[in-house]
Amino acid sequence: NSMLSWQRTAFHFQPERNWMNDPNGPLFYKGWYHFFYQYNPHAPVWGDIVWGHAVSKDLIHWLHLPLAMVADHTYDKSGVWTGSATFLPDGKIVMLYTGSNAQAVQVQNLAYPADHSDPLLINWVKYSGNPVLVPPPGILSKDFRDPTTAWLTSEGKWRFAIGSKVNKTGVALVYDTKDFINYEKLDGFLRAVDGTGMWECVDFFPVSKTEENGLDTSVNTPDVKHVMKVSLDDDRHDYYAVGTYHEKNVTFVPDDPTIDVGIGLRYDYGVYYAAKTFYDQNKNRRVLWGWIGESDSEAADLQKGWASVQSIPRTVLLDKKTVGPATQLDIIAEFKIENEAFEKATGSNVSFSCSSSGGAKERGALGPFGLLVLADDSLSEQTPVYFYIAKGSDGNLKTFFCNDQSRSSVASDVNKQIYGSMVPVLKGENLSLRVLVDHSIIESFAQGGRTVITSRVYPTRAIYGAAKLFLFNNATEAGVSASLKIWQMNSAFIRPYPHLDNKS
Ligand code: FRU
Repeated sequence: NSMLSWQRTAFHFQPERNWMNDPNGPLFYKGWYHFFYQYNPHAPVWGDIVWGHAVSKDLIHWLHLPLAMVADHTYDKSGVWTGSATFLPDGKIVMLYTGSNAQAVQVQNLAYPADHSDPLLINWVKYSGNPVLVPPPGILSKDFRDPTTAWLTSEGKWRFAIGSKVNKTGVALVYDTKDFINYEKLDGFLRAVDGTGMWECVDFFPVSKTEENGLDTSVNTPDVKHVMKVSLDDDRHDYYAVGTYHEKNVTFVPDDPTIDVGIGLRYDYGVYYAAKTFYDQNKNRRVLWGWIGESDSEAADLQKGWASVQSIPRTVLLDKKTVGPATQLDIIAEFKIENEAFEKATGSNVSFSCSSSGGAKERGALGPFGLLVLADDSLSEQTPVYFYIAKGSDGNLKTFFCNDQSRSSVASDVNKQIYGSMVPVLKGENLSLRVLVDHSIIESFAQGGRTVITSRVYPTRAIYGAAKLFLFNNATEAGVSASLKIWQMNSAFIRPYPHLDNKS
């Protein structure tokens, strides 16, 4: 079926077949980027989870390696689940991961490379004393998972967090360890937020207030803020907050309590979950990976034989403000609205929202305008990626960034939500957009990534040579000029590592 095979992405990471979910233990070692992931080797649906493994020189082209870890011990018999890597001062790596044990109790296990002189880190050893942690009193056996990368305390101990919940309150438990073998559970929580439910895949890291480079996870000076991210199991989205980490009290306090973790800002307003960052010491940046599931039917996934991709890795920075055929594209667009338009435009109510205001076909005074992605000539299929400026009767302006999937495909069994949120725009800034199009995925970044939306789309007509890109402006009271830069993207190689059998 050529329609289904067209959906296979060409420069987004995915295994050759079957199911993938969370990114695990990403790291850079001896010239290679390593990527591990939750993988079902048997089917394109979740289950039988083990750790897949691939390496890359550039985070785009990938070579698949043998499975790093399989479910071969009682402490991970029901699944080798999500975990994170920590670099020790001597350059060695430890991996903490969750095992769903033979009784489906969630425990934490320690693993490390069998041979640190192997740049490919092919073989992994599980510590003989596993599990190293079991659910503490007061925590249910299926609510204890996904240890973070550890960071150093000023006393020289390692500290890390594990997601959980207490009743309906999402929490991050904290542990200290000197050796990754003996652990001390600290009282209280790194953070707890009422009503947010189970916290999966907690991520916690510093960002610089003064510099653009990324920071090692252990950096904790007056010049940093901390970011905490949680993946809400109940709502399937990744939420974060920027705030202050108090080492002594073992707490994280968000700068703005109204946008606390789990209730405020999202990493991405589309399909994006279980994200994890790592400090890339090769390029001095913090890199974010995120799992992008399908939004078609499970039946379609079974037919395709694969499900899920990973996002193109994204760089995380503290925003200075707050303190051919068009199927493989990288687009940069800038939009300029005629100056008088803002003044002259009729004001109305500002109850606009991407998801409930009718999408890109509803016209307003100052929007929508943007790009029609993966569109056929007759526009019977199209995914608008666009801005909408709402002007209140008080004259105030509010800019929204949206992806409208409602006409993305004539197929009926796919998700056609309209995604989006507000995007802050500073005085003097033009509206800018970066869009990565890769067959069935559109990753879009407004204002340098201040608001991000990832969509999965499944066109049936706007495919192969029929897939086009258009500019549009549906604003009734504003002229908009656009400047565009478009790169056709080659396919990346993402294939088995050659001649591995000669190696072992
Ligand atoms: C998040 C998650 C994690 C768990 C893993 C299992 O998607 O549910 O909490 O460790 O996936 O595959």
